[in-house]
Parts: sequence; C-alpha cells; structure tokens
Amino acid sequence: MISRATELPVAEIRGATPGVENVLHFNNAGSALPPNIVVETVVDHLRREAAIGGYEAADEASGRLERVYESLATLIGAQAEQMAVVENATRAWDMAVYGYPFQSGDRVLICRAEYVSNVIAFLQLERRLGIEVVLIEDDADGQIDLGHLERELDLGAAMVAMTHAPTNGGLINPAVAVGELCANSGTFFVLDACQSAGQVPLDVAEIKCDVLSGTGRKYLRGPRGTGFLFAGPRALERIEPPFLDLHAAEWTSESDYEIRADARRFENWETNYAGKLGLGAAVDYALGMGIDATSARLCSLGASLRSALESVPGVSVHDKGVERGGIVTFAVEGVESEKLKTQLSAQQMNTSTSPAGHARFDLPHRGLPTLVRASVHYYNTQEEVDRFVAAIDALRQGN
Ligand SMILES: Cc1ncc(COP(=O)(O)O)c(C=O)c1O
Repeated sequence: MISRATELPVAEIRGATPGVENVLHFNNAGSALPPNIVVETVVDHLRREAAIGGYEAADEASGRLERVYESLATLIGAQAEQMAVVENATRAWDMAVYGYPFQSGDRVLICRAEYVSNVIAFLQLERRLGIEVVLIEDDADGQIDLGHLERELDLGAAMVAMTHAPTNGGLINPAVAVGELCANSGTFFVLDACQSAGQVPLDVAEIKCDVLSGTGRKYLRGPRGTGFLFAGPRALERIEPPFLDLHAAEWTSESDYEIRADARRFENWETNYAGKLGLGAAVDYALGMGIDATSARLCSLGASLRSALESVPGVSVHDKGVERGGIVTFAVEGVESEKLKTQLSAQQMNTSTSPAGHARFDLPHRGLPTLVRASVHYYNTQEEVDRFVAAIDALRQGN
C-alpha cells in the first residue's frame, strides 16, 4: 500500500492546493482544502452567470452539467440516471429514507456508528410512523457485528441503514459484507458514504446497496453545499420523494402529475449550478488521481499519525475497526479537547472535535469524553504529521 501511495505526485498536488501554504489542515472530515480546478470551476461559472444571466449560463454549460452525473456514477460504479445532485449528504439520505414506504412495526437495523442526523431522523420516524429502530452491536474490533446483524435479519427487517465511516473515528465499516447479508435476506440497504466517498474506493455493485448518500466538501474536496444520492433499481421502484416540484414531476393535467423516472426526482428545481460544476470538477480530479492511490496514501498517513500519537505520554487514541482510514480521534489527559483545538488553531493547525452529542451510541458507550478529531488527506505529508505530533506533545506539557 505504501509503495502505491508514493506514486502520487504530492509536490504537484500541493502546488495545486493553495491552502496548504496557510494551514496544516487536519480537518478534512469537516471540509477538505479544494484543488485550484474546483475553485476556478465554481468562480468561472459565477462570473458567467454575472456576464450573461443565470439561466443562460446554465444553458451554455448544459453538456458539462450532464457530465457531472456521469462522473459521480463512475466514482461509485453506477449509471448516470441513478444519480441525483442535492445540497448535502443529509438531504440526499433524507429524500430516500423519509420517502421510503414504511409500515407501522417495520424494523430498521442501524449501527453504533450511525450518523447523528440519521439517528434523529429515525427517532422522528419511530414517533411518527411506529417503525422500530434496532441497534446492531459492535464486534470485538469495534465494527458492526455481522453475526448480530444476521440474527436480526433472520427475524425480519424492512431496512438496514449503515454509516460506512463515522464522523467520529477512523473505522471503515465492512460495507461489502453487510451488503451481502442484506442481499441474501432481500433487505433494503441504505449506505451513508458521506465520509467514505473519496476516502476509500466505492462500488455499488459490489456493496449491493440500494441507496448511497455522499457529500462534496469532505474527502472529495468539492465545494460546500453539494451532495449526491445514488438510487438503485429498487429505490427508484419503491421510493416516492417526500417533496415534489416541477423538476421532480410533471404537471400532466389539472388534477394529475407524473413523477420522473430517474433519480433526479430527488432533486429540486432551483440549485447551485456553480457548486454542481465544482462537484463534477472535484470528482474528475479525484478520478484522475486514482482513488486506490489516494486512499492508500491517506490511510497510511492516518496510521502513521495514530502510532505517533500513541507514543506521546498522556495521549490516548480511540479509533476502532479492522480497516481504518484518515480520521484519527484522540484525547490528551488533563486537557479539554475544545481547548486543545483552539490552541492548535492558534498555530494554524486545523482540527475539529467529536462530542458525545454527535455519537451517543458510541462515545458515551465507551466512556469517552469529547475527542479531538484530526483527519488527514492524501495531500497532507509526513512532515505535517510529525509537526502536529510535536505540537501536541508541547501543548500537553504546557497545559
Ligand atoms: C458520517 C456522516 N454522514 C452524514 C454527514 C452529513 O453530511 P452533510 O453535512 O453533507 O449533510 C456527515 C457530516 O459530517 C457525516 O460525517
């Protein structure tokens, strides 16, 4: 893995990422630094809107806008008509889950890594529709327990919803194994790939998911306010969007309408065209680098950061799972994580924190406080890892 990682032209990549001159950016799980091509694509389109008019600029870019769907489809091994572009991963996921034809008493199986907003949505659906949310336990390695999942699937379930890579740690859940169990039992499978898209290779045919949601700004290095949804054949057959408009449906007679056949039924009419083009540019850039190579490099930087932090006295690292990516979570004895984040920020080192309220099925369950989250990308370097760990060591002693 490491030899493939070194194949990436890191100096060139950093040359095309101006932000690396200003900050040591270990907040890629929040929002990554975009490459120049993404910024230029967004700004160029905004300038075009100002120069010739918004609708006219969209018409002019119609071919490029169509290609965004092809790029997203290529990224995850889908078809362009199975892709929708929306404003973020949450709304993508919501459109599928809130539109799913649940019946009262339907069981939904979720995992301890499930994203906070997804859990809130399921709790609302539990109250509103009388579905039953069942929590699948972690196994000894901290990933979803496949044995427990299989036993619950045997009892019957309407849906399995799993977060591939959580917001609060390095875990990469075994999506292919979960997809296999769902396929064997015929259970509808929704994968939240918000943190994994751009971080690890994704192939919906291999994962066998019915729905996949992702975001632009994190590991894909796209613009903020962009997200996407994959809706496979069963999703398009079963799910009616919770909201319809003139883009999602056609008004066919005074008393009737027809929902469009493709996944764009989950979009709405007015959208951020510059952002959409920027998302396409980000995906093309990622595909050009090769997700296998970028993933190998960021995973190895993540592993290197984890082991270096573990060697610092008073630092505990809390990432779980068999397979781990670029998100590293840790605590420093005697120093509150929020304070540490602020102190790092004063040194132009960007991190984030993971509080209990973002991961109630995980952090309090493990008796953990708010953690510092340092999330690396392939454009980060070993020198940055070393500098960051030295800063943590100095802050630990100074606090
Ligand atoms: C695992 C996971 N799912 C979903 C989301 C929500 O993504 P968005 O902010 O694009 O809606 C996040 C955001 O941090 C996340 O980490």
